[in-house]
Amino acid sequence: VSSLAISGISELTTNDPTLGEGRLGRLHDAGIVIDEGRVAWVGPSARTPPADRHLPAAGRAVTPGFVDSHTHLVFAGERSAEFEARLAGTPYTGGGIAATVSATRAASTAELREHSAGLHLAMRRGGTTTVEAKSGYDLTVDGERRLCEVASELTEEVTFLGAHVVPDEYADDRDGYVELVGGAMLEACRDFVRWVDVFCESVAFTVDETRAIAQRAQSVGLGVRLHGNQLGHSGGVALAVELGAASVDHCTYLAASDVEALAHTDTVATLLPTADLFTRSPSADARALLDAGATVALATDCNPGTSYVTSMGLVLALAVASLSMTVDEALWSATRGGALALRRPDLGQLGLGAHGDLVVLDAPRAAHLAYRPGIDLAALVVKGGMTVAGGE
Ligand code: NIG
Ligand code: FE
Repeated sequence: VSSLAISGISELTTNDPTLGEGRLGRLHDAGIVIDEGRVAWVGPSARTPPADRHLPAAGRAVTPGFVDSHTHLVFAGERSAEFEARLAGTPYTGGGIAATVSATRAASTAELREHSAGLHLAMRRGGTTTVEAKSGYDLTVDGERRLCEVASELTEEVTFLGAHVVPDEYADDRDGYVELVGGAMLEACRDFVRWVDVFCESVAFTVDETRAIAQRAQSVGLGVRLHGNQLGHSGGVALAVELGAASVDHCTYLAASDVEALAHTDTVATLLPTADLFTRSPSADARALLDAGATVALATDCNPGTSYVTSMGLVLALAVASLSMTVDEALWSATRGGALALRRPDLGQLGLGAHGDLVVLDAPRAAHLAYRPGIDLAALVVKGGMTVAGGE
């Protein structure tokens, strides 16, 4: 089947302002055609052209597929006891990462494949059509390479996070570990990845260490995305802007100067509301960012420590509930925002020529994503014009 037509769409969100109302480019009683994997036509339902396959949306809403631009998909083990202790008052310090590193090192490649594919499938079923996936739970040269390779079997958007924390065996030789990450480890991983990430935080890497690693990755052609200002005013946000990073993620602690800097660059501020909530942290100040004109993305941060979450629908609902985002802001950030955080202008929108990645919702309006939190509304998930989840 090379073309797909969907008609009878009660509310079509295209994120292309030239196609419909407002920033989200909304149409009502609309149709869409995807041909050879790309959006080929958008317009009134009654004029939907014929295609090889025709689906009546029957009064349901359609949105671009979610773009989950921040996940730690490849790991072994679980940390529910740490989760419970934290909710009872033990602060999150990143110390639990070592437990996941031990479990991941001990796992077979088949186990890692099976586990990450299971998480990826859950994401798909929830309406996510693009996933970024990081390494970072092995922290050896061969092990990080293995995680990057497993991630690359699931997605094109793979990120090398050898600089997640300094592993125990390098506790007395931080400089040696920074050199290893920017040298042999980067070299071993680079064929599988588009991106480098560093956890720039007092419990992980300093601004200078982060800059050194990021610049070495840039020099071999990788793009930069950083974990910044998650646990405090780490300087990660300012550094991300300085480096021209595609994204700086968490942004839980922001100074006015950070908001100002983000408002004037194309570095996207990626907010991870479930990580904030489940570490009992303050909520990132989405309103300050949006009101200043910064580009905001939303993502799951799926990982066994701070956010064992695969549902972008839940993230969107919580962004509305706890970050004071409007439904339309949250929907845009979970789709187009994520695409821009990955520097993928062809994703997260349904303009002509964009990737045919969309979700048919079991609801008449996209607002139901926030209005009915916890309900999986993804009735049909289409990627490149092919059904990848849901349907008959
Ligand atoms: O994004 N902050 C660094 N990395 C993860 C958590 C890692 C873990 O606790 O296993 C995060 O929150
Ligand atoms: Fe993360």
